[in-house]
Amino acid sequence: MRIETFEMERMQSTYENQVAFNLSESGVRPLSPRELLGGDAAAADGLLDQPLVYTQSNGTPELRAAVAALYPGAGPDHVEVTNGGSEANYVAVWRLVEPGDEVVMLVPNYMQTWGLARGFGATVREWRLVEDRASGRWRADLEALDALVGPRTKLVVVCTPNNPTGARLTAAELDALPVLARGAALRFLLTRSYDWFNTDGEALVKRKDPNEYLRKLRFHRRVKSYRDYGLEELRH
Ligand SMILES: Cc1ncc(COP(=O)(O)O)c(C=O)c1O
Repeated sequence: MRIETFEMERMQSTYENQVAFNLSESGVRPLSPRELLGGDAAAADGLLDQPLVYTQSNGTPELRAAVAALYPGAGPDHVEVTNGGSEANYVAVWRLVEPGDEVVMLVPNYMQTWGLARGFGATVREWRLVEDRASGRWRADLEALDALVGPRTKLVVVCTPNNPTGARLTAAELDALPVLARGAALRFLLTRSYDWFNTDGEALVKRKDPNEYLRKLRFHRRVKSYRDYGLEELRH
């Protein structure tokens, strides 16, 4: 796999810790563990007494339950804990994107998934935030998204609050995404079916059985809770 240089991270890793003033930092003032624990002595002792061993690789049940509590309808089995957002981005793109797929990406953005998607053989189509001076905010152009999402779209990458503009998609903008994505899933299935029945003799990419995707799509559309994945039984 050929990986393009991630220019922003390259610039940061080269200069970030060498300069007196870093104007490229996107984070807020970092907290120390002491500030984070807010003077709670028992919590500080708990932290210092943690044995430094391998933890559960997908996150401890307690941590996953705490994360799941932030998302209505989610349970601990919906949560996978990773070492930061960049590992989560990597795992998601690695799992989902195959050569010949298209990825629609909201830009400007943190360009990690842009480079990964291209590295895994996809074409990235940029969905530009619109700087709406009249309303004083960056807004999502849903008509543009609808035009960009095509029969080969496998993934739509959205970053909200957005890096680097700080723009938040509104509830109405977010609600429109699954509707557009459902259309994309259908168009994706149709493309797979077309390729299955009309395989180009010169094709470098192996054709994929559309029934496999259809079975998964049907199953996931029926899922109402983690119990539908059989995870309840696994616990006993
Ligand atoms: C969208 C996005 N994903 C991932 C990252 C990197 O996340 P982490 O430092 O948690 O790996 C950033 C960093 O700014 C980001 O903006």
